[in-house]
Amino acid sequence: CKGVNGLDKLVLREPRGSSAEVYLYGGHVTSWKNDHGEELLFVSSKAVFKPPKAIRGGIPICFPQFSNLGSLEQHGFARNRFWTIETDPPPFPTTTSSKTFVDLILKPSEEDMKIWPHGFEFRLRVALGPGGDLMLTSRIRNTNTDGKPFTFTFAYHTYFSVSDISEVRVEGLETLDYLDNLQNRERFTEQGDAITFESEVDKIYLSTPTKIAILDHEKKRTFVIRKDGLPDAVVWNPWDKKAKAMTDFGDDEYKHMLCVEAAAVEKPITLKPGEEWRGRQELSAVPSSYCSGQ
Ligand code: BG6
Repeated sequence: CKGVNGLDKLVLREPRGSSAEVYLYGGHVTSWKNDHGEELLFVSSKAVFKPPKAIRGGIPICFPQFSNLGSLEQHGFARNRFWTIETDPPPFPTTTSSKTFVDLILKPSEEDMKIWPHGFEFRLRVALGPGGDLMLTSRIRNTNTDGKPFTFTFAYHTYFSVSDISEVRVEGLETLDYLDNLQNRERFTEQGDAITFESEVDKIYLSTPTKIAILDHEKKRTFVIRKDGLPDAVVWNPWDKKAKAMTDFGDDEYKHMLCVEAAAVEKPITLKPGEEWRGRQELSAVPSSYCSGQ
């Protein structure tokens, strides 16, 4: 069906009530709701649904470059290209029993080949589990005919909706090394217990566990991120000053969002012609008491 500004979007629905929305523009998930119809992702009220601006919120796909770590535009171009639906993709390894999914594909245009001269097929499956879990599986294949490998970095730039950032903590990253984007990507080691927030944060945690949790005390909700093929995790909140500087982001909206991004950044992925890489994230939202046993 049609979304904002007439852009095509797909809606996935599970019988118990959960749902997800995916825009072909960016292959971008813009909504994920639980059985009670509560929105779990943050999308800015000022988000611009118009190319070439990427949609502010949901789950932008950063490919073939995370951040400005290369010659391409910030976060690469996959998030502001039009993807197409693929009705009969090559079989996925059995990663999910879900029957509610959509398969999208992105291939480079001639213009894309000028800025990143590589043949690729990027297949994205967005699936909703019967319990409302949201699964994103990316498969990227090198289709170069010139025998050349290519190298890329990647992130699922997920914006989680939280009640109050000051009340939120992230578990699973304590004691890990990180590169601090706010300090010239210098390397530090996290010292504290769980991560909490009281100012701008922009860190790339390295070699993280496959499971990370975001605890939202006020909402009594825990998001669990499970990931595969994505060793790093970026944690970002712009806080007040940066929020004000972004035209597509409300001044106070930083209080209600947190990005925790399953990523492959520190060690870029290299694919030879014919090779395929797979990176997957699975998101669930559970009542806190259930998750932590409190
Ligand atoms: C994060 C980066 O992933 O994305 C930040 O670590 C960046 O440095 C943020 O500011 C938002 O990027 P953009 O391009 O969507 O404004």
